[in-house]
Amino acid sequence: MTFSTTEIALEVNDLEVSFVDSDGSLEVLDKISFSIERNAFVCIVGPSGGGKSTLLRAVAGLIQPTGGNVLFPGMAEDKAQTGLVFQKPNLLPWRTLRDNISLPLEIDQRPEAEISVLTQEMIRLVGLEGFEKAYPHELSGGMAQRVAIARCLVQNPEILLLDEPFGQLDALTRERMGDELLRIWNERRKTVLMVTHSISEAIFLADRVLVLTCRPARLIMDLPIELPRPRADAMRYLPEFTEAARLLHAQLKDTTVPACQL
Ligand SMILES: Nc1ncnc2c1ncn2[C@@H]1O[C@H](COP(=O)(O)OP(=O)(O)OP(=O)(O)O)[C@@H](O)[C@H]1O
Ligand SMILES: [Mg+2]
Repeated sequence: MTFSTTEIALEVNDLEVSFVDSDGSLEVLDKISFSIERNAFVCIVGPSGGGKSTLLRAVAGLIQPTGGNVLFPGMAEDKAQTGLVFQKPNLLPWRTLRDNISLPLEIDQRPEAEISVLTQEMIRLVGLEGFEKAYPHELSGGMAQRVAIARCLVQNPEILLLDEPFGQLDALTRERMGDELLRIWNERRKTVLMVTHSISEAIFLADRVLVLTCRPARLIMDLPIELPRPRADAMRYLPEFTEAARLLHAQLKDTTVPACQL
């Protein structure tokens, strides 16, 4: 019998981030360490203002850590390592859906023919065929968020970082977007690190759920989700699902009481 060694895509070691301003220093991340296996789907939950977005930004290289480091073992230096999707889609209102998605490739000065093929493939992947010429104001919130995800995926990053991507959607659209995200993840096989405020969304989507405390954020729970894949709606009523929700809820309540200082 052979055992496959699990490959690590992302390693976060003793990561510390502090922001310094005229009032002094604000400690946001306190020695956060975890690693993520290649192609795994990991969710992060935690109280508002705790430092979740800061963690994603530091992993994306947009913030210089005060201490510790972020490593991408075995990844080519010249490839896009991470792609970050923000809570707001941030589309350019004067560009069509197609031209919003192709923007990173244009900036990269890729050949026209390649831009055309890759962009069309993304539009198909996120299920927006037929809307290529629509402008952002003609799109629903869910459609706009799909465009933001497509614009990120078109750069083919190894690791997809999602910061509450469905936070502004109604509950049912949000569930549908979750299903879509799992389909895309399955087709593209990316490593995903996603922040969400929804415990049930985290359990439904993830292989593991990480819980952060109030600021300065520490990692206090790393819960494996043992539900089989593909995930289906009926699993929301399984005892394993309910038990995971109970554990996460209790842990979050513990970390948020007494109330977090924002
Ligand atoms: N660039 C910055 N400069 C100074 N302080 C910052 C900066 N970015 C974030 N902060 C502070 O860091 C703390 C954590 O912010 P962060 O946005 O990471 O929280 P969060 O967990 O993502 O919250 P939410 O769930 O509300 O999105 C907050 O107190 C915030 O004011
Ligand atoms: Mg945030």
